[in-house]
Amino acid sequence: MENTSITLTRYLLMQQREHPGATGEFSMLLSQIAFAAKTISRELGRAGLVDVLGASGEINIQGEVQQKLDQISNGAFLAAFANGQLVSEMVSEEMEHPTPIQGNEDKGKYVIFVDPLDGSSNLDVNVTVGSIFSVHRRPEGIKGTALVDALHLRGRGQVAAGYALYGPSTTLVYTTGQGVHGFTLDRSIGDFLLSHEHIRIPERGSTYSINEGRRNTWFPPTRAYIDYLQETDTQTKRPYSGRYIGSLVADFHRTLLKGGVFLYPADPKNARGKLRLMYEAAPLGFVAEQAGGRASDGTQPIRDIVPDSLHQRTPLIIGSAQDVQTAESFYH
Ligand code: AHG
Ligand code: MN
Ligand code: MN
Repeated sequence: MENTSITLTRYLLMQQREHPGATGEFSMLLSQIAFAAKTISRELGRAGLVDVLGASGEINIQGEVQQKLDQISNGAFLAAFANGQLVSEMVSEEMEHPTPIQGNEDKGKYVIFVDPLDGSSNLDVNVTVGSIFSVHRRPEGIKGTALVDALHLRGRGQVAAGYALYGPSTTLVYTTGQGVHGFTLDRSIGDFLLSHEHIRIPERGSTYSINEGRRNTWFPPTRAYIDYLQETDTQTKRPYSGRYIGSLVADFHRTLLKGGVFLYPADPKNARGKLRLMYEAAPLGFVAEQAGGRASDGTQPIRDIVPDSLHQRTPLIIGSAQDVQTAESFYH
């Protein structure tokens, strides 16, 4: 069968057939996530129209639309899981506490952690943004405030993770531990079709991605590593070229497909880095590892970190296995 006619749902059912014992829950859960991504993709398309209206000064585009779109995206995920019987609570960058999903109270085997809209600073300049999700099994028999502590879960415990990318095309990339697969939204039928089966990240790349604006504040290991990448050495394909979009999902997706390394290190202003562990670093770390890559905070694999708070930040070095290993040698 032609790849382009395999829908997300059908692919998940085909995968399920290969893994007896896998219930249909993942296909339902990822279909709910796909629904949220389609909703957000549509809203982002309309934001441009709002911008036009906003130009007449009726709407404060910067704050209002940006705020709205973060909230709208958050709401799209809450709505997509409502009454879906699978997700009991959602943890989101946009909400301080875990939020029960309407209609699933005391039901739902999964808790989902989301960055509903990643790359917000790029929203009003029409640059690619994304959503990131991480799925854990809900700890058994935990109620009320005890849930928060019970949700301090290591990335190794994720059962699924991935992201949507709202760019020239809307794509959905996920892993359930059986490799990494990418789908592209065909708007004419309103469905995601298989476009990147079994994505593998190159062992080593030739690009690096970091916010060079912070160069003068970088801690020595960061500076030493980036200086190393900028030296000339044909044998190790240096100097690398720099690419930085400023939306983590877009910078990560390019790194996943082309190879190379993305870094958001700690610096004097961001003692523990800027990116959040539970719904940015850990899900992308799962995807990276499943594609043969690597993700670390400089000293340990991201997926080994046991969080002490739900919105904890972490330094992140992620991408081709050899590139991340080279980077880590500067931090040890
Ligand atoms: P979010 O929009 O979800 O807050 O995430 C923004 C993050 C991430 O997308 C990106 O890698 C990083 O912010 C860029 O930060 P700088 O502007 O400091 O480079
Ligand atoms: Mn983000
Ligand atoms: Mn966000």
